[in-house]
Amino acid sequence: MMKMKIYDNYNRPVTSLRISITTKCNLNCFYCHRDGIIPSSREMTADEIEKICEVASQLGITKIRLSGGEPLLRDDIITIIEKINAIGFKDIAITTNGILLEKYSNKLKKAGLNRINVSLDTLNPTTYKFITGKNQLEKVKRGIKSAVMAGLYPIKINMVIMKGINSHEIWEMFQFCRQQGAILQLIELLETEQCSNNGLEKYHYNFVKIEKKLAKIADRVKTRNFMQDRKKYYIDGGEIEIVKPMDNTRFCENCTRMRITPEGKLKPCLLRNDNLIDAKQALQQGNLEKLRRLFIEAIKRRCPYYLSKK
Ligand code: 5AD
Repeated sequence: MMKMKIYDNYNRPVTSLRISITTKCNLNCFYCHRDGIIPSSREMTADEIEKICEVASQLGITKIRLSGGEPLLRDDIITIIEKINAIGFKDIAITTNGILLEKYSNKLKKAGLNRINVSLDTLNPTTYKFITGKNQLEKVKRGIKSAVMAGLYPIKINMVIMKGINSHEIWEMFQFCRQQGAILQLIELLETEQCSNNGLEKYHYNFVKIEKKLAKIADRVKTRNFMQDRKKYYIDGGEIEIVKPMDNTRFCENCTRMRITPEGKLKPCLLRNDNLIDAKQALQQGNLEKLRRLFIEAIKRRCPYYLSKK
């Protein structure tokens, strides 16, 4: 079948698919928005994941990201990556908390994974326990090192910045990342329906000052269009990126993503749960034609969040 590039009704190309493969997690971060997904027990099988990726590829999607929950908790994670890799994407990535990386880095690389994002908000064991509820910091650090050794590249460290919790650790984290050859992503704390009752407001950190400082000390600054206008700062051979989801307009205008939940519902927007398309039956039947129609329908439902609220 001919490959094409598909646009939504707001002239945004859809180029990436974010697949949440499980809602299970071995951490319990108090701020987690769970990728905007309502927990369910069903998980798409490896074959179903392969099917949705086949259709995505036909529709011009070039990038796949696996997320969760914690994606490495799936026993069949290697099979899943192998199947996706066989379809032929420009980029296959995973977002992980890093706890199981030590076990999997080499196997993931061999299976065809290109790169990883590791969620790590602090290098302080007490703060780590406070945020995640667990004592796994050293394991995560070893996991990151194993990923570097395995040749997964680039490695990004996702650091959600919280005022009074880890906002004073940015520089230390940057040095850690630079030493590992990893990129530091500073992420603005986002409140969604899933985490809005956790009293997150008091932790919200304003990026204005830090961005000014970074602009001053950076050797070079790059703005990534079509990546939510993210800014990249190059400092002393290291890299810092800024991700600000709260600024809905820019975030949404440049959104190129489709999502799918572990149970197999296409999810056109991180911030909404009222416009999902249930593809479970088509997935189970392996009905590619039907899946394709549903995927296109989900793309039609894509709408910048700030417009959908009006
Ligand atoms: N705000 C911002 N980012 C979040 N993540 C999870 N919850 C939130 C939130 N409330 C992101 C983190 C983590 C990834 C799995 O999801 O960046 O690395």
